[in-house]
Amino acid sequence: MADAPLLVLVLAAGKSTRMRSDTPKVLHKVAGVHLLRWVLEQAATLAPSKTLVIVGNGAERVRKAAGDFPGVTFVTQEPQQGTGHAVMQARKHLEAFNGEVCVLCGDVPLIRAETLAALRDAHRAAGAAATVLTTELHDPAGYGRIVRNEGGNVSAIVEQRDLQRGQERIREVNSGTYFFDTAALLECLDRLKADNSQKEYYLTDAIRLLAESGRRVAAHLCADSREVLGINTRKDLAACDVIARERVTEALMLSGVTVLDPANTYIEAGVQIGRDTTVYPFTAVHAGVQIGANCEIGPFAHLRAGTKIGNGCKVGAFVETKNAVYGDGAKSGHLAYMGDVKLGRNVNIGAGSIVANYDGEKKHQTEIGDDAFIGCGTVLVAPVKVGKGAQTGANTVVPKGKDVPDNTVVVGAPARVLKARSTKAT
Ligand code: UD1
Ligand code: CA
Repeated sequence: MADAPLLVLVLAAGKSTRMRSDTPKVLHKVAGVHLLRWVLEQAATLAPSKTLVIVGNGAERVRKAAGDFPGVTFVTQEPQQGTGHAVMQARKHLEAFNGEVCVLCGDVPLIRAETLAALRDAHRAAGAAATVLTTELHDPAGYGRIVRNEGGNVSAIVEQRDLQRGQERIREVNSGTYFFDTAALLECLDRLKADNSQKEYYLTDAIRLLAESGRRVAAHLCADSREVLGINTRKDLAACDVIARERVTEALMLSGVTVLDPANTYIEAGVQIGRDTTVYPFTAVHAGVQIGANCEIGPFAHLRAGTKIGNGCKVGAFVETKNAVYGDGAKSGHLAYMGDVKLGRNVNIGAGSIVANYDGEKKHQTEIGDDAFIGCGTVLVAPVKVGKGAQTGANTVVPKGKDVPDNTVVVGAPARVLKARSTKAT
C-alpha cells in the first residue's frame, strides 16, 4: 500500500506562563538547539507532504527562528485558547487535505524519529481514527491521564486539573503526540467545548468524542518515557538538556571519539568530531562546531559557534574559540582567546595570546599563516595578518593593519621587525 499523505501539525503558540520568560517557550534550547527545531527535525523524517506550525505567543520571533526550516507553513492562533483551539486554526488546511495528521507539541523536544514511525505503524495496524502516544510515569503529575474502559480501550484523556477521585493514580499519560484520520479530526473539532477548569478547548477531548461515537481510538506506549518529557518549567528544561546531551555524547563516543568524563563535558547537538579525538573534562562545545580527527580538546576549553578545527590540533586548557578555523596541526595549548581568526597549518599559539577581534564597534578578521609561531602573551589587534613562518616574541602587540611579513620575527609593543626567521615555512 502506498503511504497515505501526511500532514504534520506542531502546536507552538502557547503562553509558556510556567517558564516565566520573555522568550517564547519553543525557542528555549536544549543542547544548544531550540525546542521547535528538535521537533521539526524528527517530524521531517516522516516525509510529510505539509508541515504546519501553530504560532501565537511571540509569533514573530518563532517565525524568524524556524522560518528557514524547509516546507514549514505558519498558522496564527490569536488568542490562545487551548490545544484544541490551536488545531482549529488549521481547519482550512485540514479541509483541503486527505490523509493522516500527526499532531506534535512544540514543547516535547526529545521524541525520536523511530518512535514517530512506530506510532504511525500502530495507528495503521489498528485502523484507528486516532492513536495517541502514551507513556508510563512514576510521577504522572501535570500530565493528562489515559482513561481506559473495561475492555482496555482508550475512552478519554483527563487533564490534571480535571481529575476525578482515583484518576490521579493512573500512571499512563498523554505525551501530546497523536495520529488522526483527517476527516475524523475535523468531525470532532467542531464539537470541542471549553467546559473545563481552564476554560480552554482541549485537543484531548477529541479522543473522548471519537471514542464516544464508537470510533476506534488506539494508544501506543512509548517505552522510554524520557523521550516524551514535556517542558513546562525551567526545571523540565534542565532535565531535558541533560538527556539530550547524553544522546549527543553517546553518539560521538560510538563514532570513535574519546570523551573522558561525559557527565562533566558539555557538547551541544550538531557537533562533528573526528575519530581518535579526545575531549577532556569541563569542555563546552557549541552547536555546529566541527573538530577533526586526532585532536586534543580541553580540559576547560570553550569552543563557540563557527569554530572549525582541523586534524591533529590542540585546543587546551582555558582556550576560547569563536569563528576560529584551525588548519591541520595547529595548536593553542593554554590560556588563549581566538576569535574571528584563521590559523594555517601547524601554527603554534603561545600561552596567554589573544586575538583582539572587537574594536568596540565591529568584529574584524585575523589571519595567521602556516607554521607561524605566536609567542606567549601576544596580542594581535584585528584586522591583521601574520605571514607564513613568522614569529612574534613574548608580549608582542601587533597593531591592526600592521601585517607581519612571511618568515620574519617581530617583537615589542607596537611590534617592530627584529630579524628574519631562520626556520623556513614548510
Ligand atoms: C498537554 C496535554 C496533556 C499532555 C501534555 C504532554 C492538552 C489539553 N493537554 O498539556 O494531556 O499530557 O500536553 O506534554 O492538550 N499550545 C498552543 N496553543 C494553545 C495552548 C497550547 O499552541 O492555546 C501549544 C503549546 O505551545 C505547547 C503545546 O500546545 O507546545 C501543549 O500545551 P501546554 O499548555 O504545554 O499543555 P500541557 O498542560 O502540557
Ligand atoms: Ca506542555
